Amino acid sequence: MTRSETSVPAAGLAGYLQRIDRVLDTALPAAATDPVRLHEAMRYACRGGKRLRALLTYCAGAVLGGDPARLDAPACALELIHAYSLVHDDLPAMDDDDLRRGQPTVHKAYDEATAILVGDALQTLAFRVLAEPQAALGATAQVRMLQLLADAAGSLGMVGGQAVDIESEHQKIPLARLESLHARKTGALIRCGLLLAAAAAGATPAQEQALSEFGRLLGLAYQIQDDVLDESSSTAVLGKTQGKDRAQEKSTYPALLGFDAAQALAAETFAQARAALGLFGARAEPLLQLAATIEKRDH
Ligand code: IPE
Ligand code: IPE
Ligand code: MG
Ligand code: MG
Ligand code: MG
Repeated sequence: MTRSETSVPAAGLAGYLQRIDRVLDTALPAAATDPVRLHEAMRYACRGGKRLRALLTYCAGAVLGGDPARLDAPACALELIHAYSLVHDDLPAMDDDDLRRGQPTVHKAYDEATAILVGDALQTLAFRVLAEPQAALGATAQVRMLQLLADAAGSLGMVGGQAVDIESEHQKIPLARLESLHARKTGALIRCGLLLAAAAAGATPAQEQALSEFGRLLGLAYQIQDDVLDESSSTAVLGKTQGKDRAQEKSTYPALLGFDAAQALAAETFAQARAALGLFGARAEPLLQLAATIEKRDH
């Protein structure tokens, strides 16, 4: 076995996946809790998903060293924010989607008011989870994490990106504006996963900068790839309606650059992301392995 294979045990990513599912299950109120319909729907909204953002936090933690248990709260908080963002993204007033993670969207399985409230409740739960006092982190690191998550999720991050996404429908925006849109709507939460791990580990400024740059580039590559898959994959494989972006005249990379150029740019941006981890040498392996898994994804 090579050194890189030992740094992430064979069960590494699978182990982190089980771990985040367990942590989410514990954080979410039981489905039988009053109001039952709301709590059932919150759990429904968190089912499935690749858990990429939590995996990034755990893998960055593996690169920096330390007990993964102290990353449970940040990984969970990030997945809760992400799940909320998808519920609201799918609403009729936003992308108006019927299918998510291979199942009816929350507003279809329940109703629109419930979907709005599910998003609201998942968001507040995320901050509650992250604010729970933890001796292994300490109040200073926890406050820093709360700031990071709020910045990434709010009007200067994901929500701001969603606003630009909606206002950019039916028009051709400049490439720099599209990059900034993608950096905010998707890149901000992905980069946040890495910054949360850096805050938990007390990373050096150089380490934090490298992780931030990796996250920025990975987040951009991820959304370009999402745009590409929306055109080239199938509804069955995606678990969400294929061809939705064209139908809604969204501003996407394939729409602006053409399909082949968008696909090439995604590959190039993934390569740039990997290069940003040079500082860590062989210790970068857990994140490189995750990035390779993401680059190969079909949904
Ligand atoms: C979908 O995110 C929305 C984007 C930001 C592209 P994911 O592709 O991470 O969705 P899940 O969580 O795996 O369903
Ligand atoms: C969504 O981007 C980004 C979010 C903040 C949820 P998309 O609208 O392209 O995501 P999908 O394709 O519906 O998953
Ligand atoms: Mg959208
Ligand atoms: Mg959408
Ligand atoms: Mg999409």
